[in-house]
Amino acid sequence: MTIVYIQYWVFLRRDDGKGWIPVGVWVPATRFHGHMFRGDDMFLVAVPFFQLYNLGSNMIKGIRKIYSEVADSYELVNHVLTFGLDITWRKKAARLAARIDGRDWLDVCSGTGEMAQTLSRHAEDGVKIISVDFSPPMISKAREKKNQADIFFVEAEARRLPFPEETFDLVTISFATRNISSSKDYLISHLREFHRVLRPGGSFVNLETSQPSSQLLRRIFRFYVSLIVKPIGALISGSKAGYSYLSFTIPRFYPAEEFSSIIRQAGFSEVQHTPLFFGVAAIHVAEK
Ligand SMILES: C[S@@+](CC[C@H](N)C(=O)[O-])C[C@H]1O[C@@H](n2cnc3c(N)ncnc32)[C@H](O)[C@@H]1O
Repeated sequence: MTIVYIQYWVFLRRDDGKGWIPVGVWVPATRFHGHMFRGDDMFLVAVPFFQLYNLGSNMIKGIRKIYSEVADSYELVNHVLTFGLDITWRKKAARLAARIDGRDWLDVCSGTGEMAQTLSRHAEDGVKIISVDFSPPMISKAREKKNQADIFFVEAEARRLPFPEETFDLVTISFATRNISSSKDYLISHLREFHRVLRPGGSFVNLETSQPSSQLLRRIFRFYVSLIVKPIGALISGSKAGYSYLSFTIPRFYPAEEFSSIIRQAGFSEVQHTPLFFGVAAIHVAEK
């Protein structure tokens, strides 16, 4: 089942009468459709926008289906659309993560394993990395990689990790927190699960897209996501729904400060973040 969203653009006339201020609003098409309205001081346009796999109880299935569809082209699309910056960002996150003393590391929502591999390159001898994901095709792509004797693959859901309390010294997640953030409570329940499996003193490192603090950059970033990421991602991967979903989640993820506060609410302390490339992404580091 799908939900079709309509994007309404409301254009409000500026107080000085010189131009219009656009405000975008998203509404499920089951409630409204096909409007166009024009007045002296505002006009409104409704644009049928995209289809999203059903939310609610089937959300997990929907997201798993998306990643299973895009597994073959996932890395290529990422590298193309970020001009390779995703690789640099993973390296930076891995460098920060590898400062931890302990030897049991967990990479959740590990996908094709790029973060686990990057961590492995920064790890000292004796470190063991568990790579967890719920999509078998993504895990298969990860398994194909070479030189990963220290990485072990587990198929599991991030909210119910099959590990006892206090098993790991480090938990990392990259470009996946958006997938578990359909509501704040849902996001916190996952962060608490990461907290549960960490040992006291252990580190949590989160690499995710973020929101530039400058309004102008934020707008440019949003245009880039909807005008480039969505169609090019769909073209290369062949999954229109997949990249509609992915580009839908990017502008809606929390700004870095707000996400820090959510990490604290999940029980972590010493939360710090590093903005990347004018704030389009951020690395958060926290302690248990
Ligand atoms: C955008 S990819 C990120 C992959 C990788 N971490 C990276 O840096 O490229 C998101 C991954 O998270 C996985 N995923 C999403 N939600 C999940 C969940 N609830 N439990 C386990 N894996 C999940 C997907 O299958 C997908 O492989």
